[in-house]
Amino acid sequence: MMRHPAEPYRIKMVEPLVMTTREEREEAIAQAGWNTFLLPSRKVYIDLLTDSGTSAMSDRQWSMLMIGDEAYAGSSSFDRLQSAVQAYYGFPHVVPTHQGRGAEHIISRILIDPGQFVPGNMYFTTTRYHQEAAGGIFVDVVIDEAHDPHADHPFKGDIDLAKLERLVDEHGAEGIAYVNHAVTVNLAGGQPVSMRNLREVHEFCQTHGIVHWSDATRLAENAYFIQQREDGYADVSTAEIAKEMMGYVDGVTMSGKKDCLVNIGGFLAMRSEEILVKARELVVVYEGMPSYGGMAGRDMEAMAQGLVEALDDDYLAHRVGQVRYLGERLLEAGIPIVTPVGGHAVFLDAREFLPHLEQDDYPAQALAAALYVESGVRSMERGIVSAGRDADGRDRHPKLELVRLTVPRRVYTDRHLDVVADAVIELYRKRETIGGLRFVYEPPSLRFFTARFEPLQVPTGAGPEVSPTRFAQEPALT
Ligand code: F0G
Repeated sequence: MMRHPAEPYRIKMVEPLVMTTREEREEAIAQAGWNTFLLPSRKVYIDLLTDSGTSAMSDRQWSMLMIGDEAYAGSSSFDRLQSAVQAYYGFPHVVPTHQGRGAEHIISRILIDPGQFVPGNMYFTTTRYHQEAAGGIFVDVVIDEAHDPHADHPFKGDIDLAKLERLVDEHGAEGIAYVNHAVTVNLAGGQPVSMRNLREVHEFCQTHGIVHWSDATRLAENAYFIQQREDGYADVSTAEIAKEMMGYVDGVTMSGKKDCLVNIGGFLAMRSEEILVKARELVVVYEGMPSYGGMAGRDMEAMAQGLVEALDDDYLAHRVGQVRYLGERLLEAGIPIVTPVGGHAVFLDAREFLPHLEQDDYPAQALAAALYVESGVRSMERGIVSAGRDADGRDRHPKLELVRLTVPRRVYTDRHLDVVADAVIELYRKRETIGGLRFVYEPPSLRFFTARFEPLQVPTGAGPEVSPTRFAQEPALT
């Protein structure tokens, strides 16, 4: 197979991009408090903030929008979504939600008793938030390699069974709310989980009577890695692999905004009728009727169709290959990134990129802001700011201090990714010019979304429009 296969689709509709000047971008980032989440999208040239809800829908998905059944109750669009989930993931029951975190909220309330532990393969921001809000205590049981940006492991998202066993030994099975197995692991760099690991954790959980749940948000990309890397799966289709994966868990939370190729939507799916009944009770309170859960009928139609398209082998070979293309361009230029390259994004290692900054100077936040000023490319901090504070109010200091260049699905061409790579390479050349930041506004939870910063070393007399790439000295030309 080609290493970087061409797009298995052609373009039927285009959306013009906005170009900006450096001066405009310096002003925009200052107004956004050096937080790329707060930039208006009209000031962004190439938007790699997230792969969430940013996919391009297919002609078939757009056509499905027209046949959405907008009945308040008993929508046939829900039936179509449920049938797709049953056929492709194998769960009999589906409860729709407006997006992934809606599903996380509901499952956390159902499965967690206050004081119980919730082991998972690394945290995700909204997932952990809802676990903690329900009184749970998150415990990271991912293998150590996941925290090492350069550990070369084919399945860096695997759960470390020894860590899980230790937790169960210490607190008993009744002390564990459930095990959350994310496929792939976003904050480790989009790293996959092996089929073997899913199977072993499933057996372990069954033996101890513990619920084995999955955050299946990027399960299609995970299935592709299993096909490429795990013995015995080279000739198995990604659709079959995904179904086998789902056979090893009791249920899932799903953000349809990723591997269902839609702009909004999510769901819970499960085998247990007991969980189904509780989920339906909660969904009417927080999301909507169990036959729409916060989505329009047309959204459910588009999601039912996207779920199937995302499990197409040619689509996935291109999708994951395109992310790898960006990664390889950066590796060739000696840029420090998380390796192996994951499924949805390339992650810059901000510690290595900016060794002159302390983690408390928010290097990944500063690097994301500087990349925007350099090029109009929007990326996202995934380090100390995203990790937030612990129960005692202290900053968590994650080992990984990263900037995520997230590739939306079916949206940008490799030429766009060349622009991104060139900008990062140029910024690396003048990395000493990038200074740290400090908070000027810190919200109490999920702070990365709306926090505001200012540069640490604002020169005297300078206004708020100074960018972090401007105040330090220019690098010596060698
Ligand atoms: N789980 C994972 C692994 C995610 O990456 C996300 C969202 C969610 C759950 C929550 O889903 O956004 O639909 O409520 N990730 C986005 C991102 C926000 O940019 O990584 P949601």
